[in-house]
Order: sequence, then C-alpha cells, then structure tokens
Amino acid sequence: MSVTVRVPAKVNVQLAVGAARPDGFHDLANVFLAVGLHDEVTVTPAEELRVTCEGPDAAQVPLDRTNLAARAALALAGRYGIEPAVHLHIAKDIPVAGGMAGGSADGAGALLACDALWGTGASREELLDICAELGSDVPFSLVGGAALGTGRGEKLRPLDVGGDFSWVFAMAERGLSTPAVFREFDRLTAGLDVPEPVASEALLDALAKGDPEALAAAVSNDLQPAALSLFPELADTLAAGSAAGALAGLVSGSGPTTAFLARDPGSAAKIADALRASGTCRAVRTASGPVPGATVMGA
Ligand code: C5P
Repeated sequence: MSVTVRVPAKVNVQLAVGAARPDGFHDLANVFLAVGLHDEVTVTPAEELRVTCEGPDAAQVPLDRTNLAARAALALAGRYGIEPAVHLHIAKDIPVAGGMAGGSADGAGALLACDALWGTGASREELLDICAELGSDVPFSLVGGAALGTGRGEKLRPLDVGGDFSWVFAMAERGLSTPAVFREFDRLTAGLDVPEPVASEALLDALAKGDPEALAAAVSNDLQPAALSLFPELADTLAAGSAAGALAGLVSGSGPTTAFLARDPGSAAKIADALRASGTCRAVRTASGPVPGATVMGA
C-alpha cells in the first residue's frame, strides 16, 4: 500500500522583511499565493527510511536526512513512537533552490502522506506545528490557497482571493541559498532603520477583488535587492519580462526564480514565449493560482 500527496509551489506577492531578530530569523509580512506547479510525494512501507527523486532537477536534491521529506517523516514518527520505515519518492516539478518552496512542499507532502499511511490521527494543528518546526514556509505548503504569514512566516491567516491570477516563471541558470540572501539583506540594510513589516492593504484588496492590474501595482519583495546583488543577471530576466508585456515582474521569495504577472492565460503564454526567446533564463513555465495546498491523491 502506498499514499501519494500532491503539493503546490508558491510565489510571494508581498515579502516585507524586518530587521534580524536575536535568533537570526527576520519577522516577515509574507503574502503567499499557491500556484499550479506541483511536486508529488509517494510514501511506501520499506525496510528503512529511504528517499528517491525523479525530475529534471533531481540531481540537485539531497537524498539524505537533510531532505525536508525525510525530516518530516522522522518528526512525525518520533512524535507517535512509530518506526519510520518508509520509502519516500519525490516526483519533482518545482524548481530546486528557486524561491518557490520546493523543499517545503516535499516536507509538507511527506508529512501528510506518512500521516495517512500510519493513521496517526494527528490534528490539523499538530501537523501545522510539525510543519513550522521543519521550516518557515512549510505550513503554507500544507494549507495552500493564499495566506498572510507573520512571525518568521509560519503564522498563517488565510486570505480571500476573488479570481485566478496568471503567472509566468523564469527559472535561473543556478540556485540561490535562502540564508545567503537573508545575510545579504542584513549587509545591505546595516545601519539603516528597517521598519516593522506590514501587509499592504492595497495588495490584500487586489487579491480579494481578483484584479491583476491592482495586484501588479502592489506587489513587492524586500529580498529582491539582496537577490539581485548576489545574482545581477536576474535584472536582464526582469527587463525581458517587462518588455514582453508583463503587468509586474519580481523575484520570487529569496529567488532566483523570477515571477511575472500576466493579464490572462493568453497573455501569459506570449510572455513565456518572449522570455524563452530572450536567452536570459534556463526554463520558463506558466501557472495560475490560487490552488489548494497538500492533497492526498485518490482520497
Ligand atoms: O525556516 P527556514 O529553514 O526555511 O529558513 C531558512 C533560512 O532562511 C534561515 O536559516 C534563515 O537564515 C533565513 N530566514 C530568515 N527569516 C525568516 C525565514 C528564513 O532569516 N523569516
């Protein structure tokens, strides 16, 4: 018997970042939108814990116990006194180290899959607690849709969204490490007065109305200058998307994937073609959101 869970990627339509806290993390106002690029995690009983991965970026995925899927299985097993003897297989479609929560998706997916396989009876709150221990973005991968994340991004408030938003994602030639981007943010803001992060009312209103022009005017990412500082070529990708008619372009989370908001799916397809032809990125995908969070398949 095996269980498969499908988990979406995310884009941050607003990422407001406060000053570094004593624990090294940063308080955030993080507006997540789940979009239709998915990883699938399949869990099957096995002799011992084992992780495998398939997909175009599979070679970059660690298969040891640093993998968030393995850590999720170990955390749930530890809490319920279960032997974590499972094979976790990840079918990976979300870019690796791309700022789209691919690792977090695998953590949330493995957690939900193991929970279903083992029948732990864990409550949604317990699963969300384990997600928050695994990483700041993991709770959102479980819930999906759209949400405002505060604290280090793990405290979620679901948001109303009044329509589908069409996106184009440009994958970069190499990855960026999230801690390195936050460290660069600290370096760039050293000596400056970093304001408390707050969610933009105009942005929440645009989401609620499903209005892409209004959302385009309100998107922001405080990590973008740090990502561009570490990866200056991303400016060329942003310029290519803008020239192709994107309503807005921004770095997704800590990057280096760049995200372009389109008026509708037809416009997204045209922007995607122009980005492919621009030679400023490794691959281009279109997706829309919001979409549901981690979901057990065939349930
Ligand atoms: O929580 P997660 O493991 O995903 O965070 C990865 C790294 O990103 C942290 O070690 C920290 O350097 C940085 N981070 C941060 N503030 C946050 C979230 C992440 O500084 N709110």
